[in-house]
Amino acid sequence: MFELPKLNFAYDALEPYMDAATVEIHYAKHHQTYVNNLNAVIEKYPDLAGQSLEELLKNLNTLPVSEEDRKKIRNQGGGVLNHNFFWSLLGQTKQIDTALVAEIETNFETVEKFKELFTKTAVGHFGSGWVWLVRDENSKLQVYSLPNQDSPHTMGHTPLLTLDVWEHAYYLKYQNRRAEFVDNWWNILRVL
Ligand SMILES: [Fe+2]
Repeated sequence: MFELPKLNFAYDALEPYMDAATVEIHYAKHHQTYVNNLNAVIEKYPDLAGQSLEELLKNLNTLPVSEEDRKKIRNQGGGVLNHNFFWSLLGQTKQIDTALVAEIETNFETVEKFKELFTKTAVGHFGSGWVWLVRDENSKLQVYSLPNQDSPHTMGHTPLLTLDVWEHAYYLKYQNRRAEFVDNWWNILRVL
């Protein structure tokens, strides 16, 4: 069974960039619900026990499950894994990932240029979804957004950074001002 991972920070630790109420509802309600819903599907398939969520999403299209359950694993499993990764990247104390910075500079010239592209992609994404920095199958870095809870793992890509742009990630504090949320999020992205 999959579990909700512990946060590395208190609900109010990301203030003022991400408010305590948003973090609590996002984590304890939204994220927890994805975990519960995923477990309800997986328990129907004992053969899948022991597989990591990364493996399940990577092999999504060939899993021996019904088409209805494949859709649930895509949505609920993606919802769990995306949020696990999202929270793991956040904190008020910077712990810069120098290897990641070097890789970004190789692919985008400067961190600033990368940030501009990522921000533009986040603000421009229509509807619910996530923005990704990934390493693709040719070891090139790519920035793109995906709808809903779709995972880069299903495309054979390795996620390096991500930002949740579902309204539940920012609406309490920022309402319709997604651009302001994205700008502020850079302050609590620990690794860059
Ligand atoms: Fe979310």
